[in-house]
Amino acid sequence: MKNLLVTGGAGFIGANFIHYLLEETDFEGRVINVDKLTYAGVPESLADIEKAFPERYVFIKADIGDKDTLAHAFDKYEIDSICHFAAESHVDRSIVSPDEFIKTNIIGTYNLLELSRQIGGRMRLFHHVSTDEVFGSLGDDGYFTEETPYKPNSPYSASKASSDHLVRAYHKTYDLPVTVSNCSNNYGPFQFPEKLIPLMVLNAIEDKTLPVYGDGLNVRDWLYVGDHCSAIWTIMKKGRIGETYNIGGRNEMENIKVVEMICDYLDVIVGKRSNREPRRSLMTFVTDRPGHDRRYAIDSKKITDQLGWMPAESFETGLLKTIKWYLSNESWVNNVRSGEYLNWIKEHYG
Ligand code: NAD
Ligand code: TYD
Repeated sequence: MKNLLVTGGAGFIGANFIHYLLEETDFEGRVINVDKLTYAGVPESLADIEKAFPERYVFIKADIGDKDTLAHAFDKYEIDSICHFAAESHVDRSIVSPDEFIKTNIIGTYNLLELSRQIGGRMRLFHHVSTDEVFGSLGDDGYFTEETPYKPNSPYSASKASSDHLVRAYHKTYDLPVTVSNCSNNYGPFQFPEKLIPLMVLNAIEDKTLPVYGDGLNVRDWLYVGDHCSAIWTIMKKGRIGETYNIGGRNEMENIKVVEMICDYLDVIVGKRSNREPRRSLMTFVTDRPGHDRRYAIDSKKITDQLGWMPAESFETGLLKTIKWYLSNESWVNNVRSGEYLNWIKEHYG
C-alpha cells in the first residue's frame, strides 16, 4: 500500500484515521484524501496534518459521485489501496431527506468499486468501513456476529447495507481484494455535534436542553474512535481478503445513562450550572425517532481471536478524554457551531 485513497477523511472517523495512520503507525506511503466537504467535513480537523506531512498527504475536494474526477485521481496518484469512509452518516437526516444517502452511500461506493475493478492488479486492497446498524435491532439478549442476517431499518442503514452487498459482490464476481468492517457507535475528538455524545457535551457546557429521544432506554455499544482506527488498520494489514469483521467495545449502555455520565463529569470538571443545579436537570424527554432501533451490541470475538485486536479505552477513560477534548478545542468547536467553516470552504473552493 503505497498510495492509499482515504475517502471522507475530513469527517469524524476519517480525520482520526489519517492522524492515527500518519502519526502512530508504520505506514510509509502517501494518503490521498478525497472528500466532498459536506456540512460534516471540517478541514480544520486536518490542518496540522497538511503542515506536518506535505509530501505524504494530498487533499482533493471531490464528490465520490463524480466518477470522472475520481478516475483522474486514481491515475494521477497511482492509487493502489482504498479505505472508504465517505458517507452520509446521520440517521435523523436520512429520515428527513434520504436522497443524498442513496447517492453517496450507494452510487458513490459503486463508483469506487468500478474504478478499482478497472485498474485490475494494481488495486491491492479495498477496505469498506461500515456499521452494525445494517443488522437491525436486537431484543434484550444476543449480539451481532458476522453471520447475523442484514435487517436495516433506517434509510441510512439500508444505504450502508446496500453498499456492503456491492462490496461483497465485487469480491465474489470480479475477485476484487476487499475487506469489510461493521463497527458499533463511535465517539471521540472531531465528531460533528449532531450525534448523541458531542451534542450532549456541548449543550451541557452551554446550559442548553439535552433532548433524549423516547424513554431514553435505547442501547448503543460505544467504542472510542481511536480503537476503531486501530481495528481498521489491523484488518487492513492482517485481515483475510473477502472477510468481514465486527468491531465493538463490549460497552452497552442506555442513552439515558450516557447523558447522565456526561452531566456528572461536567459538574465535576467545570462545576454545576450557574443556578447551582446539577446538569442532569437539563435532560428533557422528546418525541422518539421513527423506526428507532432499540439495542445494538457487537460480538467482536472474530477480530480479537483471529487478528489479536482489543480496544485500549474503557468507556470511562474514553468519555473523559472526549469531554476534555471538546473543552480544550474551543476554536474547532466555535468554527463548527457557528458554521464559519462553511464560509471558509466556499471562499477556498467556490
Ligand atoms: P461523518 O459524517 O463525520 O463524515 C463523513 C465524511 O464524508 C465527511 O467528511 C463528508 O464531507 C464526506 N462525504 C460525504 N459525502 C461525500 C461524497 N459524496 N463524496 C466525498 N465525500 C463525502 O461520518 P463518520 O461518523 O466519520 O463515519 C465515517 C464512516 O464510518 C461512514 O461510512 C459511516 O457509515 C461509518 N461508521 C460510523 C460510525 C459512527 O459511530 N460514526 C460507526 C460505524 C461506522
Ligand atoms: P446517534 O448519535 O444519532 O447515533 P445512531 O442513531 O447512529 O445510533 O444516536 C445515538 C442514540 O442516541 C440513538 O439511540 C438516538 C439517541 N439520541 C437522543 O436520544 N438524542 C439526540 O439528540 C440524538 C442525536 C440521539
